[in-house]
Amino acid sequence: MRKSTLFGAVLAAMTLSLSAAAVQDQAIPDDDLGLSKASVYDTPEPAVFEYGNKDAGTVGKRVVRSYNTAPPMIPHTTQDMVPITRDFNLCKDCHSQPDMIGKKITTGVPVPAPASHYVDVKKGELYMGRWTCTQCHRPQADVKLLVESVFDKKVVTRKK
Ligand code: HEC
Ligand code: HEC
Repeated sequence: MRKSTLFGAVLAAMTLSLSAAAVQDQAIPDDDLGLSKASVYDTPEPAVFEYGNKDAGTVGKRVVRSYNTAPPMIPHTTQDMVPITRDFNLCKDCHSQPDMIGKKITTGVPVPAPASHYVDVKKGELYMGRWTCTQCHRPQADVKLLVESVFDKKVVTRKK
């Protein structure tokens, strides 16, 4: 390496470490880190909340989806239906209704799980990768938002 190149490299390294030190000096207050309004050293206790307790079939209203193809939220209670195990799945009993796909759903009638949820829609055979419904579908609770979302569904919504 020529002397001048070596000098240039040393100078560049010095400038880099100097600017890194300058960035380090700009300390961020610990309650400004992340989305939480409190210090990262606090252990906040979230307010106690309860999920909606209306029985399946009595709600009638479906929750607006956050975006097209989002798994819909469960509008009714899941009490006594969870946890779903290998031998216990009440969700399936009401929602595994391939014959109802595409038909008009009236109040109180379970919305049929869509075609993607079966290995074979004609046979009504549920795809086991969908067995644990609560992995994707969750009940809702009426709580105050911890952080306001600026999510814009138009950005991710594709036309089918
Ligand atoms: C007794 C029958 C029954 C059982 C059991 C049941 N559901 Fe439902 N479900 C319904 C009915 C009926 C609706 C329509 C809303 C209403 O009237 O409650 C519904 C609505 C839903 C929806 C909303 C669909 C949409 O397009 O908005 C989801 C998701 C859902 N249920 C998931 C589940 C899951 C997961 C379980 C198991 C933890 C479950 N359900 C158990 C009857 C049932
Ligand atoms: C791996 C994630 C996943 C699992 C597990 C899953 N679902 Fe879904 N489900 C979805 C998604 C995503 C949609 C929305 C599909 C779409 O709009 O194309 C959906 C849609 C639905 C709908 C609404 C259909 C409609 O026409 O509005 C019902 C009802 C439903 N699922 C029930 C169930 C039940 C019951 C189970 C368990 C047996 C289950 N799902 C398991 C992801 C899942």
